[in-house]
Amino acid sequence: MLCRADRSHLDALEAIEQASFSTDRISRRSFRRFIDQEIGDFQVALVDDQVVGYFIVLYRQATQLARLYSLAVAPQWRRQGIGSQLLEAAEDAADEQHCLFLRLEVKTDNFAAQEMYHKAGYYDMEIRPEYYEDDSDALVLQKLLPRYEEPAGQNDAQKLVPYRTQTTEFTCGPASLLMAMAFFDIPSADPEHEELEIWREATTIYMTSGHGGCGPHGLARAARRRGMDVTLHVSHDGPLLLDSVRNSEKKAVMARIQEADINALRAANVPICVGDYSLAQLIEDLQQGSLVVALISTYVFDESKAPHWVLICAADENYIYINDPDQDSLPWQSPAERQYLPIPLATFRRAFGFGKRKQKAALVLRRRQQ
Ligand SMILES: CC(C)(COP(=O)(O)OP(=O)(O)OC[C@H]1O[C@@H](n2cnc3c(N)ncnc32)[C@H](O)[C@@H]1OP(=O)(O)O)[C@@H](O)C(=O)NCCC(=O)NCCS
Repeated sequence: MLCRADRSHLDALEAIEQASFSTDRISRRSFRRFIDQEIGDFQVALVDDQVVGYFIVLYRQATQLARLYSLAVAPQWRRQGIGSQLLEAAEDAADEQHCLFLRLEVKTDNFAAQEMYHKAGYYDMEIRPEYYEDDSDALVLQKLLPRYEEPAGQNDAQKLVPYRTQTTEFTCGPASLLMAMAFFDIPSADPEHEELEIWREATTIYMTSGHGGCGPHGLARAARRRGMDVTLHVSHDGPLLLDSVRNSEKKAVMARIQEADINALRAANVPICVGDYSLAQLIEDLQQGSLVVALISTYVFDESKAPHWVLICAADENYIYINDPDQDSLPWQSPAERQYLPIPLATFRRAFGFGKRKQKAALVLRRRQQ
C-alpha cells in the first residue's frame, strides 16, 4: 500500500536511506522539510504498517519536467516488485501534474536501479561527471510519460498518422504535408525528392533573407496541388513571416511572391480565414477527420525562437498530439516519441503562433471530396 509520507515515518525513512545509499543521503531534516512543506510528491510503501520504501518527485515551475529526486526500498524487501510499484506511482503523480517527462540521476555503477528504469521504459540521456559527493558520475535517465490512447469505442483498426523525419533543417512544413498525404492515401513516388519540391514551391526565402522554411500560403497551394482540400487560417491578412527581413527591397519581392500565392488560392476558392483559429475550432476540425499543419514557436520547449511546422493528429481534454518532423530542436529522442507527441493544451496555446506579433497559421487538410 502506498500513502503520503508523514512525520511518523521519519525513523524508517532514515534507516532505509542509510542502508540504500553510500553517498548524497537525504538527511532526516530534509525528509522532514519535504513532509512539512508538502514539497512535490512524497509517498511511502507500507507492508503491515511498516515503511518498506519511498519515492520523492519534485516539480520545477513552468516546465513539463518532473524529477524523481529519490527512490529506495529497504534491503530485506527488494526483488518483490516494490521498487517498480513505487516507480509507477511516481510516474502517475507526475502525469497528474501534466508533466511530460520524468527525469532522474543514478550512479553509473548502480546496475540494479538502471535495470529497473530501463525495464520501465527509461532511456539514457547523458553522463554527468563527478555529480555525487564522492566524485562518482551520474547517468541521467528520462521517460516520456503520457501517450496517445485511442478514444474508447472507436474501432481498433483506427489508422495512426504515419511519421516522417524531415531530411533538412528547413523542410518541417513539407515533411508535415507528406505525413498528411500518407494518411490520406495520396501516393508519393519519391517522398524525399517531393519534400524538397514542396519546399521550392512554398519557401519564403529570397537571396538569403527570410526564415528559410515555408510560408503558409505556399504550403496551402502545395497541399491543394497534391489532392487535398485545404482551409487556411491566418491571424493576419497578407504576407506573413517577413518581420525579420530588414532590407526593404527584398521584403517587397518576398511579399509579392506570397501575394501571388494568395491570389492563386483565391482563384481556386481555397478559404483563407483571417482571425483567431481557436483551440475549440481546432479540436472540432480534428474530430471531423481533418489533420492540421500548424506553425508553432519552439520557444516554450527549448527557449530558441524558431518557427516550426508540425502536424497535429489528435486531441483530447488534456493534450494536443503532434507528429513533430524535427529530430533536433526539441528534447524528444526517438522517432517513436515524436509521433503522437502529447503537448498539454496550455503549452500548445503558448507555442501556437510566432514572433512579436504572434503570427498564427494553420492549414486544415482533408481528403478531397470527389
Ligand atoms: C533499485 C531498487 C529501488 C529496486 O527495488 P526493488 O523493489 O528491488 O525492485 P523490483 O523488485 O520492482 O525490481 C524491478 C526490476 O528491476 C531489476 N532489478 C532490481 N534489482 C536488481 C538487481 N539487484 N540486479 C539486477 N536487476 C535488478 C530487475 O529487472 C527487476 O525485475 P525482476 O525482479 O522481475 O527481475 C532497490 O534495489 C534499491 O532501493 N536500491 C538502493 C537505492 C537505489 O539505488 N535507488 C535508485 C536510485 S535513485
